[in-house]
Amino acid sequence: EKGGYDYFMLKEIAEQPKAVADTLLGRIDASGRLSLDEVRIPASVLREVDKVVIVACGTAYHAGLIAKYAIEHWTRIPCETELASEFRYRDPILDQRTLVIAISQSGETMDTLMALRHAREQGAKVLAICNTNGSTIPRESDAVLYTHAGPEVAVASTKAFLTQLVACYLVALYLGQVRGTKWGDEILSVIRDLSEIAGEVEEVLETMEPVRELARSLADKNTVLFLGRHVGYPVALEGALKLKELAYMHAEGFAAGELKHGPIALIEKDVPVVVVVPSPRGRSVLHDKIVSNIQEIRARGARTIVIAERGDTAVHPYADHLIEVPATPVLLQPLVATVPLQVFACELATARGNEVDQPRNLAKSVTVE
Ligand code: M6R
Repeated sequence: EKGGYDYFMLKEIAEQPKAVADTLLGRIDASGRLSLDEVRIPASVLREVDKVVIVACGTAYHAGLIAKYAIEHWTRIPCETELASEFRYRDPILDQRTLVIAISQSGETMDTLMALRHAREQGAKVLAICNTNGSTIPRESDAVLYTHAGPEVAVASTKAFLTQLVACYLVALYLGQVRGTKWGDEILSVIRDLSEIAGEVEEVLETMEPVRELARSLADKNTVLFLGRHVGYPVALEGALKLKELAYMHAEGFAAGELKHGPIALIEKDVPVVVVVPSPRGRSVLHDKIVSNIQEIRARGARTIVIAERGDTAVHPYADHLIEVPATPVLLQPLVATVPLQVFACELATARGNEVDQPRNLAKSVTVE
């Protein structure tokens, strides 16, 4: 049932292009617009939404952090993303015009379920993004957008994450489409780009051998740091989480802009630092800033592992290891940039002799608070 792979995780990483394509299937109409009628929240209600709150745990929370950038950009609705386990305890401000999005692969995560119950009690509408048909979270929500990743068996989430991102982009673009923002043309062009993305994920998968080799060479390290900016920041957090759960290594993700506010003190000779570089097109300010961050850490002896768009020559002089990914619109980059980090963590776990599909102390679905 592992389809010839040694681990479910490897199989699930390889299934990502299909999972992404399946999650888009039937959701883009012939005119290139989104048709999400299955989300049975009337357009009139969506037009009135004045705040979006995303709640989730772990990897799903990282998808939610990325969704915030997409939602605020394409809809201009303020959006916050919060750890489900923190949400209800701070007495959040919610009402009928708040759209709460609960993201969960299993649909059974207790923290997320309790957060959505709390939101509904306050009158908010809840939309679930979920991978498991008929599970508790979608059953208790007002609406659901299913991700079509298929069953995810490995404890470490991979294909579910990519499909959660796709679903988040769909919701963001749909909200933008329904409300008619000034980004109408951009929305249409991003929908077109999304339909190409499965092929790009496939391309990334085909070029992973050097990443595996690199991972094996780092098997005796104690710590790996991850840096990113903008949507690359949650990608850094996700890379670090994967490494913690699979390789049992100390790993931390930082917003690159925070370096000087503390984390740079951790940089010493030969510490591996993975840097997720945003596209040099579009937000070039961001790109310039991260290039100087890479220079700063390299000057202090870090071993830089740079994930950058193909052809981004500005980073080449500072990359001890370069991992190239295909060009995408800035906001969609996490769909390609996360994949090498999954492969990296999986290979490191194997090299350290860890149980890949069932890491110690972890359960696939956390049904207690
Ligand atoms: O089933 P859920 O998406 O609600 O699960 C949330 C987290 O428990 C989950 O993403 C966890 O962090 C994974 N092990 C990450 O790989």
